[in-house]
Amino acid sequence: MRLFVGIGLPEECRRAIDAAASPMRERRLPVSWVPPENLHLTLKFLGEVAPDRIGSVRSALAVAAGSVPPFDLLAEGGGVFPGVRAPRVLWTGFREPLELVGRLQENMEMAFFDAGFPREGKPFHPHVTVGRVRGATPPGWGGRFLAALSGRSFGVVPATSFQLYESRLSPSRARYAVIEEFPLAGPAGPQEKEK
Ligand code: 2AM
Repeated sequence: MRLFVGIGLPEECRRAIDAAASPMRERRLPVSWVPPENLHLTLKFLGEVAPDRIGSVRSALAVAAGSVPPFDLLAEGGGVFPGVRAPRVLWTGFREPLELVGRLQENMEMAFFDAGFPREGKPFHPHVTVGRVRGATPPGWGGRFLAALSGRSFGVVPATSFQLYESRLSPSRARYAVIEEFPLAGPAGPQEKEK
């Protein structure tokens, strides 16, 4: 099974992101746009996992879920990877503070590493992929995408849980199915306790 772990976005947030990206969806462009129902924040991509390892995946996720309390994320703005001159991935972002989502991702990496899964090589940059560029885009187009999203807010994502997803790929589109949901159950830190 092809698996990944992510935080699903509320419908209002998915709609707002979709609406912000829609003026950029010119048919001539070689961009594969993510359908609104698939928009999510990836915490860990596992790739192909043998059925006999699902138990250790669940255990690692339970450890991570117990390490951080629920938190809110503010979905806002966007960017491109690796850079505006030759964009490959178009994304929307989150506003600071990102401390808890960073801690959750790091604890998850450690739990998976202890369970024998390789660590992600790239630094964590929380984002929602909205499009993947499949060919050459016109000069300046990456900058237009950035400008269209700059300063726009897409609402609050109440991160009370994360999900283990199975990704089923087909030539036309990827379908994501939630296999299990893991509520965040970590102890509140000093800031959360003061609220
Ligand atoms: P990203 O698009 O948010 O960067 C489901 O396929 C998710 O897993 C994608 O949204 C993608 O995250 C991530 N993903 C897919 N293939 C990947 C790969 N080869 N390496 C790392 N992450 C990957």
